[in-house]
Amino acid sequence: MRSLLHISNPSACKKHCCSTCRCIVIVIVPATVSLGLFLGALAAASNVYFTSPNQAFTFPRPFSSGCDIFSGDWVPDPDAPYYTNDTCSVIHEHYDCMKYGKPDLGFVKWRWQPDGCDLPRFDPWRFLDRMRGKSIAFVGDSLARNHKDSLICLLTRAAEPKPSWPSSKQTVYYYGEYNFTVTNFWAPYLVRHEQIDEDGPAHTGLWNLYLDEPDGVWAAHLAELDYVVVSASSWFYRPSMLYEAGRMVGCHYCLQPNVTDLTLRYALRMATRAALRALSGADGRFRGTAMLRTVDPSQYEGGEWNKDGNCVRTRPNRRGEKTLEGVELDFRNLQVEEFAAAEKAAADAGGEVRMTLMDTTAAMILRADAHPSKYRGWTPEKHFTLHNDCVHWCLPGAIDTWNDMLLHMLVPA
Ligand SMILES: *[C@@H]1O[C@H](CO)[C@@H](O)[C@H](O)[C@H]1NC(C)=O
Ligand SMILES: *[C@@H]1O[C@H](CO)[C@@H](O)[C@H](O)[C@H]1NC(C)=O
Ligand SMILES: *[C@@H]1O[C@H](CO)[C@@H](O)[C@H](O)[C@H]1NC(C)=O
Repeated sequence: MRSLLHISNPSACKKHCCSTCRCIVIVIVPATVSLGLFLGALAAASNVYFTSPNQAFTFPRPFSSGCDIFSGDWVPDPDAPYYTNDTCSVIHEHYDCMKYGKPDLGFVKWRWQPDGCDLPRFDPWRFLDRMRGKSIAFVGDSLARNHKDSLICLLTRAAEPKPSWPSSKQTVYYYGEYNFTVTNFWAPYLVRHEQIDEDGPAHTGLWNLYLDEPDGVWAAHLAELDYVVVSASSWFYRPSMLYEAGRMVGCHYCLQPNVTDLTLRYALRMATRAALRALSGADGRFRGTAMLRTVDPSQYEGGEWNKDGNCVRTRPNRRGEKTLEGVELDFRNLQVEEFAAAEKAAADAGGEVRMTLMDTTAAMILRADAHPSKYRGWTPEKHFTLHNDCVHWCLPGAIDTWNDMLLHMLVPA
């Protein structure tokens, strides 16, 4: 038995994003895996809130080039956080854990230490200098937005952007002094999709997915972009009818006896493939750097996502204490496979495009302490009650490391 979780919460958006926030949906397969999404961001408070992190971790090793920054462990970072809810105005209430009273803020005081090298903390001046005259886009669901919020917040020490909303699915931040643009495209399936039933077999809606058609919301802008960070997986838990070349080829959990269930793995694989194909440079439109960020594990413990499951740890797990399993493991594996195929295709197409894998999954599975849980703003929804959010990430917090990684990938130390 599989149940799904649906969150739609446009009204809960804060400040200048109000006019453009849209529904966010969370879907979860409980019992084995739970998962979902919103938007969010969290804020920090003063140092008095922080507990002392445990010191039992290994400390920085010298940098060696070619190091795998995605394999490592979390170590204390006494200097964090680098922004707070008071210094960053874009933090969505869903992620604003400090403002909403997360009792133990020790979770911000950690940084990711790769095995073979140092991963310096994000330097906003260095980043902006590198990005002069360039543009970067975050494409995906509310976790892509979570990542974007972290970047904008980390940059606040150096510069404030001018935000704009060219459409309900596109948020733009422009840094005039650097002629640098950050865009967030709302494309939770990466490919074109439409909702065909608000209820559906799991009472969470039913969607048509056009698996070979990259969502025009972002794909139409490819020629203007220098860097594109793609991530998606959470929405694929919801029931869907799957189309290729305009023809229905099957479904995921539609429960129709005459339609083959191709599974959510198939849907994510094909949608990822279509997105990476659009970024391969084969059609000459995109000529920048494509980044695929791997699945975020959801972290409900002690129960199901829609019952009493929660995330109440107060410190990271050590490497090996938690490993990816079930659907999430399958998701990461297929992302890695599709990335490898796309990287080869891009090279074959002439190598104009650089393809990179941002393999954040191993780091994030250790951070069950870094989710909002119940400490975020929340407006109740008709079809859905979210007890605890163990899917999105408090800001400031663990995913600020994604931007440490991003800068390292752009400009290796
Ligand atoms: C930031 O959070 C603190 C609580 O930690 C709160 O008192 C303050 O009002 C918040 N600031 C903003 C701008 O929301
Ligand atoms: C800003 O950058 C864009 C490319 O992103 C470029 O086309 C434009 O000429 C630049 N504008 C200025 C004023 O440098
Ligand atoms: C499957 O059967 C249902 C009725 O049971 C029908 O509405 C639907 O169109 C059929 N789908 C296909 C792909 O034939």
